[in-house]
Amino acid sequence: MKITVLTLFPELIRTIAASSITGRALADGRFALETVQIRDFAGNRYGKVDDSLYGGGTGLLMQCEPVWQAWLSAKEQMPADARSLVLSPKGRVLDQSLVDELAAAPGLILICGHYEGIDERVLEAIGAEAVSIGDYVLTGGELGAAVLIDAVSRQLPGVLPDESAWREESHMDGRLECRQYTKPELWRGRSVPEVLRSGHHARIAEWRLLDGLAETLEYRPDLFAGLDLDEDCLCRLWEHIGERRRET
Ligand code: ADE
Repeated sequence: MKITVLTLFPELIRTIAASSITGRALADGRFALETVQIRDFAGNRYGKVDDSLYGGGTGLLMQCEPVWQAWLSAKEQMPADARSLVLSPKGRVLDQSLVDELAAAPGLILICGHYEGIDERVLEAIGAEAVSIGDYVLTGGELGAAVLIDAVSRQLPGVLPDESAWREESHMDGRLECRQYTKPELWRGRSVPEVLRSGHHARIAEWRLLDGLAETLEYRPDLFAGLDLDEDCLCRLWEHIGERRRET
């Protein structure tokens, strides 16, 4: 998988991606990351890539030609079926199913807008799919691109140490993860649930399943409503919720 980011702030993308798990994945060649400085395609000595809005209004818009030339240069170095995305608050909101879909692509070109955004015509010409990281407005697409790179890269083979680790995590099947604990066993009067210290694998698996469902019900009732749970599972869940209440 190769990801190329078209941006006015390549150092921002590189700095974020160079840390932690994505940094190690890049060093190990699990995926490749390129950045393209859109300003290098300005076509003028000042590196100016933006101009005022037709129809009036405040702010500046990124112009077509620098974005187009930057995209052509990236496209040349990409597999033919790479997907081109523009980070925008208008886009399809990024969720785990979109992340999984993008992780299966052979390449991604991420276009980051700044100022008021990008001239619509170049996005049309590219056929860029808009992706948003949430219903709020950022000052530019770079943080969105960094989020997308993080979420996509952790789905690639060999990026996380143990494949089962990510399969069990939140949102992988529309539910949240169970609560988790590490040493010490007793911290400032708060103890780790007894079952997790029991060494009884079947009871632990059952506790994790039910606790994940309880977390989903508490924090994301919208996700919980979409789960198809049978009566037996619901009974065990109510019992588990009762135990959780007694814990506190
Ligand atoms: N650029 C500005 N706001 C954004 C958002 N919410 N998601 C992705 N890119 C953006």
